[in-house]
Amino acid sequence: MDVYGLLGNPVGHSLSPPMHEAGYEALGLDARYVTFEPPADSGAAAIEAAETLGISGLNVTIPFKQDVLDAVNPAPLAERIGAVNTVDFTGDTPTGYNTDAVGAVRALNHHEVPLSGTAVVVGAGGAGRAVAFGLADEGLSVKVANRTESKAHALADAVPDATGHGLDSLPGLLADADILVNCTSVGMEEDETPVPADALHGDLAVLDAVYTPIETRLLQDAAAAGATTVDGAWMLLYQGVEAFERWTGQDAPVDSMNSQLREHL
Ligand code: ATR
Repeated sequence: MDVYGLLGNPVGHSLSPPMHEAGYEALGLDARYVTFEPPADSGAAAIEAAETLGISGLNVTIPFKQDVLDAVNPAPLAERIGAVNTVDFTGDTPTGYNTDAVGAVRALNHHEVPLSGTAVVVGAGGAGRAVAFGLADEGLSVKVANRTESKAHALADAVPDATGHGLDSLPGLLADADILVNCTSVGMEEDETPVPADALHGDLAVLDAVYTPIETRLLQDAAAAGATTVDGAWMLLYQGVEAFERWTGQDAPVDSMNSQLREHL
């Protein structure tokens, strides 16, 4: 039996176990997905232990995404982002990937959103960083807007063809934009949005990384403006799908994983 899992603290409410196990079941794989919650400063030790125990793959979440970077051989994109959320132990050395970046790209692809033109990324934390690199690598021109403007500039300096802005620039930036991604926590369990509703328009595709609730205020405003909307469960799904495919070497059964994920939301 192959063992996969999630390394984080806390991991209690993770949706990854039912999502991945739905995938194993659909493909008839003899595998399990379990959660591990080591103390906050032990990410590197946990990777070593997992390798010793013969674990096949780990997802990594808060607070370990940066610490784990030094304990694995990072893929180029994970190294540039500076964070690892997926470790593959099936090769000679543990390899670290960042599937958050690819997750956003594949969520947009699933909705047939053309990956060209300009993307506005709101937020410059861990999620904003991954999404900004992911979209820039697809050839989009990226505008990062963040409450703390200095962080937007710092991120934009690291990403090719990107610029940094404060949130007050959003209306001007969005007028010419094709894609908007919310990577802040605004809207999580609250009826708030980081983007003024009247700045949204029908030529935008809007992805919200927040998935609690699934129809955030931002997505409701975007739908009302005639924009294409992509909810945060798609991004969560596709970071998992990408990890699943790296570990198993097989195409993930996306529909099975998606329906289990949405059942547990
Ligand atoms: P994550 O890893 O999920 O991206 P994070 O690194 O803590 O989380 O980043 C949170 C992001 O949400 C940041 O961009 C933060 O803005 P600041 O850099 O100014 O802190 C943004 N954020 C959080 N609360 C916000 C709020 N009330 N209004 C606007 N932005 C907010």
